[in-house]
This record gives sequence, C-alpha cells and structure tokens, in this order.
Amino acid sequence: MTTRGSRITGWGTALPDRVVTNADFEARLDTSDSWITERTGIKERRFGGTTASLAAEAGKKALECAGLLAQDIELLILSTTTPDLTTPATSSVVQDILGTGGGAFDLNAACAGFVYAMVAGGGMVKMGANRVLVIGSDTLSKITDQDDRATAVLFGDGAGAIVLEADPIEDKILSYDLGVDGSAMPILYCNHGGYLTMEGREVFKKAVRVMVESSKNVLESAKLTVDDIALVVPHQANLRIIEAANQRLGVPMDKTAIVLDKTGNTSSASIPLALSDAADSGRLKDGDNVLFCGFGAGMTWSSAIVRWSRS
Ligand code: COA
Repeated sequence: MTTRGSRITGWGTALPDRVVTNADFEARLDTSDSWITERTGIKERRFGGTTASLAAEAGKKALECAGLLAQDIELLILSTTTPDLTTPATSSVVQDILGTGGGAFDLNAACAGFVYAMVAGGGMVKMGANRVLVIGSDTLSKITDQDDRATAVLFGDGAGAIVLEADPIEDKILSYDLGVDGSAMPILYCNHGGYLTMEGREVFKKAVRVMVESSKNVLESAKLTVDDIALVVPHQANLRIIEAANQRLGVPMDKTAIVLDKTGNTSSASIPLALSDAADSGRLKDGDNVLFCGFGAGMTWSSAIVRWSRS
C-alpha cells in the first residue's frame, strides 16, 4: 500500500557570530563555568541577529542542500517564540528575503515548536503540497534578563531549517505525538515586553516526564522499539534533562545528537541545529529511524519518528 507523505531532503543552520562563553558570565555575574557546565552542559552560546535574518540564512542553506530554488517552495512555516514584530508574522519577512512561493505563517509552540511545525508541514504535504520549508528560529537573548544568572546562562540565538518534499510511496514521518498542558504555564512564561520567568526545578522534572511519555507514544504508534532508533534528536535545553530521559528510555548517549554545549538553548532552532550537525557529520544513512523530541513553555511537547531518506 502506498501512503503519500513527506521526507526530509535538505537542511541548514545559522548562528550569529558573537560567541558568549561561560567565562563572559563569570566576569560579570555571581556564577562560574563549573556551575553552568555541571548543571547544564552548556559551555558557550551565540547572541545576535534577528529572528528573520537567522531564519532566512538557515532556510537558504536548506534549499541549497535540497537542490531547490526558493520559488519551488509551496509553503513556509516558521516556528518562533521571538517574532521580530507583532505583525506581520516574521515568516513574511523571511518570504521577502528568500522569495519563497506559496503561503507562509508563524507557529508558536515554544521550544516544542519545531516538531509541531514539521508535523504541520507533513500534514500539508498529505493535502497536496509538494515542497515545504520548515524553519525554527529564535533570538532568546532579546527576552532574557542578562543580569539574572538563573536564566541568562541558559539561552542563545540561532536558526535551523529543513525542506520537506512529497514522497508518493511512503510517508517518512512514521508517527508523531503533540501535546500541551496549559495549567503548567506559570512555571515558564514571558509577558509582552518582559523577560523569561522560570521555575527551573519544576521545568526540569516535567520536561523529563513528558520527553519519556511522548517518546514512548511515538515508538508505540510506529510499532518500533528504542533499539530500532538510530539517532535521538532531543530539544537542547540541558544535558542533564537529556541524560535523565535517555536513562529512563534506555537510549545510550552515543545515539543522541548534542550541540547545546556550543549553542545553549535556542528554542525552536535547537532540534534542527542538532539534526543538521548529525547529518553533516555523516551520522545518518538512508533507512535510519530518527526520534525527535521537544518540550517547552506551555507546557508543550512534541515528538516524531522520521525515517531518514534523501533519495
Ligand atoms: N550560577 C550559580 N548559581 C546559580 C545559577 C548560576 N547561573 N543559577 C541559579 N543558581 C543558584 C540558585 O540561586 C540556587 O541558589 P540557592 O540554593 O542559594 O537558592 C542554587 O543555584 C540551586 O538552584 P536550583 O534552581 O535548585 O538549581 P538546579 O540544580 O535546579 O539547576 C537549572 C538550575 C536552571 C540549571 C535547572 O533547574 C534546569 O535546567 N531546569 C530546566 C530549565 C530549562 O531547561 N528551561 C527551558 C525549558 S525549554
């Protein structure tokens, strides 16, 4: 039986030039490289750019990787929590820079947003779209109080993108799981014009729980076990969260894509940054099952299993 669906045919990333190391925070806040490294695994992050400029750079590279022109794109979905303007959507600015065809919209599901956007893009392919550009871009440095050691050290700026193209034979998005628990909103939020407010411990505990549950859900829907997964691409918030979830799921760390030591938590960008790093370093081959797992403010979560297949 054939099932029209999508596959990932291109990917790309963008990071601002300015590197902010743990030593930079040590120099002006009551914190230390050892505290940040031990609690989070983060060594440095990047600050700068706009959500649109980073998104456009990542999107352009993903198009080149897929061998497509911008006008080939029939839909652009931009996942972001940090739009440059209230209106229009930042995806309009990106559309203008790149010249993509078709529609464009922003999607906000916080740090779970990229997988939400990929699943939404996959749904549009099932409805007939042939080529969808999915971008995750965030400039969290804009909404983080740089004098608050509890949050300043965690977040960074960046973007990552993938191209989804129609696969007439088999949907390579094997399963997905999207969820939200709005009652957890008070543990992580940002008011208009304000800074991110967070109860770190609560977020940590809930994040591990939803990652494990959501990953189990997608494994079950795809009729796979963890042993069938070649690579896990988790949201890059904190190495200890990833280690705790992996331990409960039985996933070894060497089957996990990690970039947070160099990027910090880049929200919507974190999963495509980690995916691109793995793909560029030859860690993926056709037929590999990749488990994506995100979580974020809301509290939202999102997982998907994608069969890697560029051809
Ligand atoms: N440097 C030094 N000390 C710090 C610090 C920093 N950057 N940030 C917080 N502290 C202090 C706290 O003030 C607290 O001090 P106190 O005991 O005197 O009150 C102490 O460290 C312990 O704080 P706590 O929050 O209990 O630490 P923790 O072990 O939970 O680690 C986080 C804090 C933020 C690293 C951790 O809770 C976490 O990563 N949570 C998830 C956050 C996240 O991923 N958010 C985004 C989700 S998308």
